[in-house]
Parts: sequence; structure tokens; C-alpha cells
Amino acid sequence: MTAKLPAHVAIVMDGNGRWASKRLLPHNAGHRAGAQNLRTLSEEIEKLGIQYLTVYALSTENFSRPEKEVQGLLKLMHEYFQQYIEDSKKNDMRMRFIGDTTRFEPELQQKIETLKTLTREKKGLQVTLAINYGGRDELVRAARKLVREAASGNLSPGDINEETLARTLDTFPTPYPDLLIRTGGEKRISNYMLWQLAYAEMYFSDVLWPDFGAKDLQGALTWFAGRQRRYGGR
Ligand code: IPE
Ligand code: IPE
Ligand code: MG
Repeated sequence: MTAKLPAHVAIVMDGNGRWASKRLLPHNAGHRAGAQNLRTLSEEIEKLGIQYLTVYALSTENFSRPEKEVQGLLKLMHEYFQQYIEDSKKNDMRMRFIGDTTRFEPELQQKIETLKTLTREKKGLQVTLAINYGGRDELVRAARKLVREAASGNLSPGDINEETLARTLDTFPTPYPDLLIRTGGEKRISNYMLWQLAYAEMYFSDVLWPDFGAKDLQGALTWFAGRQRRYGGR
């Protein structure tokens, strides 16, 4: 199945909480299973020859969850980033991050920097983790950057176009997603890549994220291969 493979797949990894509840486990057990599934599925995605994967791991709004869950998610990130640092010694994945990472504690920020540096030259799948990410927040931060440039005399209103704006986004220079997959049954984008998803094909699966496996991924890719993308043209 190589016909019309997306270059960039974006995933809203939803359903960890319900996965845990079904098993009478705490929410964080679901997040752990979800984090493990991401490692497994990334390998599948790399094997298929897809170039970019961008996953929604933690939204700006998720910080409104109970303190215990938020702390659990942060702890899980520490653990998994350490694991990814180890993985980078033997795999070829490039790790990037989108979202406002300045809000995290220094030790976590340090791990993020280490991962970015260690994998900068890697030529395999590029995995971008969206953490403390919100599409609106990203656009607000982009507007701020542009105004700062304008205030310093390096930018005039006429210089602002889709290209200059795109360059100020967290995702730059990664191309826009071709396929968005949302697991867990909800049919919404929940503030994910509002600008970048403008022409993405949207695939919704009822499968809860920790259960979303290689077969489910194939289902999404087969569906994608059958889409005709028009970008507003005839
Ligand atoms: C998605 O799983 C992961 C995060 C938001 C961090 P949820 O925790 O939202 O799972 P559900 O929607 O409650 O099942
Ligand atoms: C989106 O899922 C965010 C992540 C998967 C990280 P949510 O569970 O937070 O989205 P809503 O609240 O159902 O819209
Ligand atoms: Mg959810």
C-alpha cells in the first residue's frame, strides 16, 4: 500500500482516560499506555516511509485538569523523554517540539533541548511532539513575534503575507499535515494546528488511542489513498 501515502500524518491521540476507566484504572495508567503506543506506532509509521508525524500529547487547555493528572502527565514526559534519549542511540528518528515549552520546569526543558540536539541530523521519521500546544496560543505568539520585528523596524505591514506568517509558527519549516487522524471517537480538532490543517484530510476513529494499532493505521491510510484533494480548485 504505497499509493498516495501522506508525507505528513498528524494525530490527536485521544481516549487514554476512557481506556483507563474501562479497566477501573486511574487516568494516568491510560496516559502511560498511550505513551507506549506512540513509541510502537512511530516505528510502524517510519517503516512505511512516511516522513513526518506530529502528535498532540498535551494541549494548553489540558492544564485545567486535576493537579494529580497534570503532575502524572509531566512525570510521564520526564520518563519518556529519557527513554527517547536512550532510543536515539539506536534509531534514526528526529525529534522536534511545538507548543510553549518555556512554561515547563528547567529539567524538562533540558531534556527537550538534549533530544533536539541529539537527533538534529537524523534522516528517519521526524516526530514532532505537541506539548503545552494550542493553535490559538501559537498564533498569538506568532503575532507577537511579528509586532516585535515591526517595532524594531525590520518589518512593515506589506511584508506580512501567508509565507512570512507561516515562518513564525512553531511548526516551521515542516510542511503542513496531509492527513489528520483523531482517535477516541470525538469529531473535533480541539485547538490543534488551526492554521496548518487548512487542507488536511480528516480521519476519525472510535478506537481509543492506547488500542490504535498498525491495522487501524492501515485503515486510515487506505481511506486517505482514496481521497481526491482539490484545494478549492475544479
Ligand atoms: C488524551 O486522552 C490525552 C491527553 C489529553 C493528555 P484523554 O485523557 O483526553 O482521554 P479521554 O478523552 O478522557 O478518554
Ligand atoms: C485533545 O484531547 C488533546 C490531546 C489529545 C492532547 P482532549 O481530550 O483534551 O480534547 P477535548 O477536551 O475532548 O476537546
Ligand atoms: Mg480526551
